[in-house]
Amino acid sequence: MSNLRSSEWFSGDDEVALSHRVVMASIGHEIDVNNSKPIIGIADSSSDLNPCNLPLRSFIPEIERGIIEAGGIPVVFPVMSLGEDLMKPSAMLYRNMLSMEVEEYLRSYPIDGVVLLANCDKSVPGSLMGAISADLPTVMFTAGARPVAEFRGKPIGTGTDLWRMWSDYRAKKISEEQWKEFEGCLNCGLGSCNTMGTASSVAMMVEALGLTLPGTSVIPENDPARSVAAFNSGREIVKMVNSELTPSKLLTPAAFRNAMRVLHACGGSTNAIIHLLAISGRVEGGLTLGAINELGKGLSVIADVEPSGAKLIQDFNKAGGLPALIANCGEIFELDEQTLIGKSWREIVKGITPTNNTIRTLQDPIYPSGAFAVVAGTLAPSGAVIKVSAASKELLSHTGPAVVFHGYADMRNRIDDPELNITKDSVLVLRDCGPVGVPGMPEWGMIPVPKRLIEAGVTDMVRISDARMSGTSFGTCVLHVAPESVVGGPLGLVQDGDLIKLDVASGTLDLLVDASEIESRKANWQAPISEHLRGWPALYQAHVMQADLGCDLDFLRPKSKTERKFVPPVVGRS
Ligand code: FES
Repeated sequence: MSNLRSSEWFSGDDEVALSHRVVMASIGHEIDVNNSKPIIGIADSSSDLNPCNLPLRSFIPEIERGIIEAGGIPVVFPVMSLGEDLMKPSAMLYRNMLSMEVEEYLRSYPIDGVVLLANCDKSVPGSLMGAISADLPTVMFTAGARPVAEFRGKPIGTGTDLWRMWSDYRAKKISEEQWKEFEGCLNCGLGSCNTMGTASSVAMMVEALGLTLPGTSVIPENDPARSVAAFNSGREIVKMVNSELTPSKLLTPAAFRNAMRVLHACGGSTNAIIHLLAISGRVEGGLTLGAINELGKGLSVIADVEPSGAKLIQDFNKAGGLPALIANCGEIFELDEQTLIGKSWREIVKGITPTNNTIRTLQDPIYPSGAFAVVAGTLAPSGAVIKVSAASKELLSHTGPAVVFHGYADMRNRIDDPELNITKDSVLVLRDCGPVGVPGMPEWGMIPVPKRLIEAGVTDMVRISDARMSGTSFGTCVLHVAPESVVGGPLGLVQDGDLIKLDVASGTLDLLVDASEIESRKANWQAPISEHLRGWPALYQAHVMQADLGCDLDFLRPKSKTERKFVPPVVGRS
């Protein structure tokens, strides 16, 4: 019997092992009692409903070829496809469901290692969380960004330019005809968003963790190098199985610190912070929300990519991708951390320099500090996140009266109401949109600036919510306020006209209301009545943790370092 996990299923001369071998024969793989060929799962999340993940399908033959050439046996299995745009209320509601699906696939089938095929935002952390809880050798393969569209001769960044155009359209700065023409330009093919949105951010974050082939996470979908990466991913997973290189050996606390530094330096998505906290929580990686400010020290945003910068992910890839970014940050990174290819980052980045100025130096950055700040105070006792690199500098220290919206529908109904008592100095507050609230914490945090103010030339305001925002969004948006309003967080106690003070430099976010008044509001507070939920949303709502803990389900986290996270099945007659 070989050391392979799958040999539990296939070795032996009884009727159970025989029937398992027969199943493999019936799908085209001859397995004998002494099989030493690793069975490699390919977790395919492609779907016609998800244009970001759809191209993953076309890379499967190359991945299989790599697996076979390296001596493995590929088996493809489907997993849930989390598409950001069409799934409601939010793909985030299903991230943990995907993680459970992947973990249970790996637990229940004779699989020795897995290649995860994911691309759109939540598919990447969702599938990775499942695989690392299973702790089988894992390679993440993403499909890359979609081609660049053009509008009137100018390249369009997915998401970011849509939000800009929507703002212009509401302010009547562009005509209805232009708006329609813009829609016609947006369809530019398959793949993920081509800005430094969540998809690109999480793809690089996983590469930094050592679980994607170095240098491949942001190769665009239509670049021939993507097929080469697919083949090499297949080859590498077999080597990982043979050398028993499991995720727990790569996911050290230093690897998580490096991944967070990457997010700071690339101007990554705020969503990626939630995912990184969740991944860390699965393996006792030690990352906390409180450590994020510290991990930005000495760093600057050096990736000149939308929404913090001006270019697109294609330019970033041409400049050298993640290895070039790490090379330009030097020893701020813990370069001795290992990657799945058995090389450290120090070995990988040696001699690399960016080939164009989309990747700047720390001395000539596009933003002079790390991309994010965590703030906390009486309005966010467990913290909140702001992407300072995409915010307005003059609003990072601001005090203003609150204008409160009780949920998304209320905000959409009233934001453009001419009677709304609001000025450019008001602070927009959106509550009841957190992980438990909707449930699923949709990307509603970039509350639109009221039409009347846009027409008067206002482009940004301080906005505060327990929601998330798209990685392609921008503005002075304080997000992920924890605890959220529907579980009793102070955000639910704010009333119109209350003064709110944001001070990023001191890391504070406070509600300037007397403590006695807050106590009396608390005493009268009632949780909003939730719609009757059933099935997955009900389970999610009962167990989801707050944003500062990554919005994982409480029962999916190991309770202690020594707890065995993954219980293998008893292999016998089914
Ligand atoms: Fe899927 Fe952006 S919507 S990657």
